[in-house]
Amino acid sequence: MIKNPSPIYLNNAATTWPKPPEVLEAVRQSLALPVFGSGRTTGSQGEDYITLAREAVANLLSASPPEHVAFTLNATDSLNILIQGFLAGCGTGCHVLTTELEHNSVLRPLYELERQGRIRLTVLPFDDGAVRPEVVEAAITPDTRLMVMTHGSNVLGSVQDVSRIGDILHEHGVYFIVDGAQTAGHIPIDLGALPIDAYAFTGHKGLLGIPGIGGFYLRDPERVAPIRYGGTGTDSSSLFQPREMPERFETGTHNHPGLAALAAGVNYIASIGVEAIAEKAERQTAFFIGELKRESNITVYNEHPALPIISFNVRGLKNDDVGFILARAYGIVARTGLHCAPLVHQAIDGGAGSVRFGLSWFTTDEECRFAAKAVREIAQNADSSVDPA
Ligand SMILES: Cc1ncc(COP(=O)(O)O)c(C=O)c1O
Repeated sequence: MIKNPSPIYLNNAATTWPKPPEVLEAVRQSLALPVFGSGRTTGSQGEDYITLAREAVANLLSASPPEHVAFTLNATDSLNILIQGFLAGCGTGCHVLTTELEHNSVLRPLYELERQGRIRLTVLPFDDGAVRPEVVEAAITPDTRLMVMTHGSNVLGSVQDVSRIGDILHEHGVYFIVDGAQTAGHIPIDLGALPIDAYAFTGHKGLLGIPGIGGFYLRDPERVAPIRYGGTGTDSSSLFQPREMPERFETGTHNHPGLAALAAGVNYIASIGVEAIAEKAERQTAFFIGELKRESNITVYNEHPALPIISFNVRGLKNDDVGFILARAYGIVARTGLHCAPLVHQAIDGGAGSVRFGLSWFTTDEECRFAAKAVREIAQNADSSVDPA
């Protein structure tokens, strides 16, 4: 096979590329014109990007009221704010649940709190990509305060039953933070109908925006103490942080290019329809997995993902080497290693990591065919009797 002349980008689970032309234009416009925003400028013309982005995100995720959507830097920032905010009252001894499926953006804030002696942490196992609701229920104790869980695994592409798990947690008075970094923009989400207390998202993945913007939806803001304080452009005579949303969490000058890009990305998704995006992704992902499984020395770790993520290894080659060959010989951009989710890998591949393909709305069928053929060719040439470790 000949190397593709332009790169085939299959690292969309890390960050999506390309962005829709509307997103690039929105960034340009946001910097070409002065910014309008009540309370922060006397200008009366131009776009109020934060309101545009808030309404677009609230609409896409059925988050109500829109003011309960607050903007941050990314999902990691959102998760830090939410985790620390929900646990602000815990001196010692609050019990927190999480899972082996988590990204380090959940694990590290929680392990740090555990190291400081502020929480007791239980990490729940998964089975066939899913954390079973009964496993969650069995782990709840009278002092369980919070559960933090990914909605979609960035390694296995599995989507968790947050509806059933949320019901169980709420029956026991446990708060529920969901990490939506991999699901927003990829599958339909109705936050109005889900029994969750907070949902964190990031702008640069499935929402097709740019890095540096993310946010969260919070059902009951009073439950969460802010961890940052500063100017909001409102109630400036008060020396205390406003209690109201979204100012409670939105402090300092906003990321206008990021917000403009996010609004444009979300509007682009809405114009296609998340259902159509999910359908195309499902078809292409099933194609990939079917093709890779034709080689007996390829291990696919997720045979039925709900998200467009494929994790695999080729026996006889390190995943880094497969990534290197894909890039150098075929012009395919993938991701290799632990994908910032070390506990998943301990469970599925002994901690060695995997090659990951992540697809986006812009991935073409031709690119899928080319990449699947490339991996099969690499596998056919691998000496599977050799242990590369
Ligand atoms: C499941 C999951 N959670 C959180 C994050 C963190 O997102 P961000 O880097 O935008 O903060 C990622 C990014 O890879 C992710 O896949």
